[in-house]
Amino acid sequence: MMQWGRTEDMDEKELIKHAMDARERSYSPYSQYRVGAALLCGDDTVFTGCNIENASYPATVCAERVAVGNAVANGRRDITAIAIVGGKSGETGVLTDYAFPCGICRQVLREFSDPASFTVIVARSTDDYKKYKLEELLPESFGPDHLL
Ligand code: THU
Repeated sequence: MMQWGRTEDMDEKELIKHAMDARERSYSPYSQYRVGAALLCGDDTVFTGCNIENASYPATVCAERVAVGNAVANGRRDITAIAIVGGKSGETGVLTDYAFPCGICRQVLREFSDPASFTVIVARSTDDYKKYKLEELLPESFGPDHLL
């Protein structure tokens, strides 16, 4: 867990670096698709995750959901941004993919965020990334407010 100065000063490149570090810990012997995620919380803390595959393939968990699990297990339920780095790095080690979160991960991020303001960063490097609001990636979403 890392502490940020202020959310407004959040350095996107720093968040991406945390995701790149987390990707180093990816356990993906079956797909070789290595993913790292760094989740920024409302109190400026950062929790990371990597994908963890399993010999029983459906038991695999995505990097984003591991990061959310880490945050929630550490008492955070207010998340503001995520940086995701992933893909198969070929012989050059250069990432060719922007690793967009899967549908299940988008829904899990939605549970603990304001989708209109939550930022999703998909990065190939600290200088090559795209930014979205969760609302763009998961429009007309279903969330906790519907059950009030
Ligand atoms: N994966 C993630 O970690 N995040 C996603 O949003 C998409 C997929 C992982 C799961 C699996 O280990 C590998 O990528 C290939 O599906």
